[in-house]
Amino acid sequence: MPKKTLTAGEQAKLLRAAKKVMKNAHAPYSNFRVGAAILLSTGEIVLGCNVENASYGMTNCAERTAIFSAVARLGPRIDIRAVSVVNDHGVPCSPCGACRQVIYEFGPDATIFFQGAAGPKQAHITELLPEGFRLP
Ligand code: THU
Repeated sequence: MPKKTLTAGEQAKLLRAAKKVMKNAHAPYSNFRVGAAILLSTGEIVLGCNVENASYGMTNCAERTAIFSAVARLGPRIDIRAVSVVNDHGVPCSPCGACRQVIYEFGPDATIFFQGAAGPKQAHITELLPEGFRLP
């Protein structure tokens, strides 16, 4: 059964939370701060920001920080209902490919709210990641 869409109030709350945590980003190399808030089916919201490293490839995106933090806090049986992503440049920014796969793992029916090329946008995770990988 398809899950209920988020109310305007729930969306606004998730967006506010993502904007707040964005300020904690460690982004001295790109100077591009990102915040992510994930809404779980329990109603709980968990936050993440990007954490960069002098060895650039070690960088962790905001979305994965939030998801890994949720697993560390609550265990692996989390169900992601929605993800909100913001950046401090107000430019288009959808989750990267790696984050899409991680979102899919814990939220195969998740809705993603992000800044698209033509303004705020929402998309189902399977629109962003068709045929996401699952172990058979
Ligand atoms: N970044 C995120 O945290 N999430 C995204 O959806 C896109 C990119 C971060 C990674 C890096 O710290 C910075 O943005 C520039 O790529």
